[in-house]
Formats: sequence, C-alpha cells, structure tokens
Amino acid sequence: MNLDFVFENNKKWVNEKLNNNKDYFEDMGKEQNPELLYIGCSDSRVTAEDLMGMGPGEVFVHRNIANMVIGTDLNATSVVEYAVVHLKVNHIVVCGHYGCGGVKAAMQSEDLGILNPWLRNIRDVYRIHKKELNAIEDQQTKYERLVELNVQEQCVNLIKMASVQKAFRQKGLIVHGWVFDIHTGNLKDLKIDFEGLLNKIMEIYHLD
Ligand code: CO
Repeated sequence: MNLDFVFENNKKWVNEKLNNNKDYFEDMGKEQNPELLYIGCSDSRVTAEDLMGMGPGEVFVHRNIANMVIGTDLNATSVVEYAVVHLKVNHIVVCGHYGCGGVKAAMQSEDLGILNPWLRNIRDVYRIHKKELNAIEDQQTKYERLVELNVQEQCVNLIKMASVQKAFRQKGLIVHGWVFDIHTGNLKDLKIDFEGLLNKIMEIYHLD
C-alpha cells in the first residue's frame, strides 16, 4: 500500500481547519488542557476522539491491547500520573469494546508467546469473577461479560494508584468504565460505582 494518500489527506485536513479558524494550529501549539484521560484498546475499529465526537486538545489518550492498566506497566502508569498530576484531568475513562481480540485470546488455551504475560492479566479478571462467568452458558454472552468485567477491574487498578486516590479526595476526580459496541457504534456506560469501589478496596489499597 502506498501511503502518499495520507499526506494528501493531511493537507486537506489542515486546510479545513484553517478555513474554519485561521489561528487553529497557532492556538493548538500553545498548550493542551484536556479534561479527560481515555484508556482504550489498540483495536483499529475503536477510535478514541472520533467515537466521542471530540477533537484535538480535548482528550489525553492511552491505548494498548485490551485497555489494561497494569501496575508494573511503566507506560500506562506514566500516562495516568502525567494526566492526573500535571494535566489535572477530572475524568479517567477505561473504554473496552465487544469483540475484543485480546479478551477473546485470554479465554482460549493457547500459547501466544510474548503475549502470554499480558493476557494473563485478563485471565486474572476471569479468575476473580469465575463464579459469575461460569454460570453463563452462552459463549458470546460470557465473552461480552468478561469484556465488561475487565473494564471494571482496570478501573479498580486505577484506584490502586496513589495519584488517583489523592486527586479523588482533593478535587473529586472520577473514574468511568465504558464499553464500545463495535456492531452498533454505541457507547455504553457501565455505571461503575467509583466511590463505592474505592471505599470497598481502600482497606487494602489505601496509599495516601
Ligand atoms: Co480490543
């Protein structure tokens, strides 16, 4: 595939922006002030800003396979730290999606090499919620529920971080769990009880 079209598209995009506002890029170059940190899957079908109708400057984004927040992952934890402490975002969203290949892979007994330790974290989510998941007979329903529970557990992982605990107490930072339905395009709010979750696990994870 020849990638020249990308540069042609970029020119068109720049012209569109400048037609609407001649200072667009000059203003954008000054600073970023996003309200929201979005943690999503790397899946090519699940965009970040696009599906929320937001544009440049509005969302700080981190994406990886299956939207994971793993405590020893310096990449994800640095993004969270920077967003919360320095950019002072007021919302963190973990957005999973139905049809997630990472979650599906974690439900199968297959050696996937270097992916094993990454996917093991999703197997841990399965283990934590084994009772509920094993009670679901339909495979597709079970798979979709694991996608949702994985989002929930990644929200829990965020709560384990000192910077998130501190920002919640000091300025009411909220963690949200969403799922994007790739079959309909709809975004679903899992309505995770962030404060309830936080209170429930604080006995063990309180840091600050
Ligand atoms: Co995915």
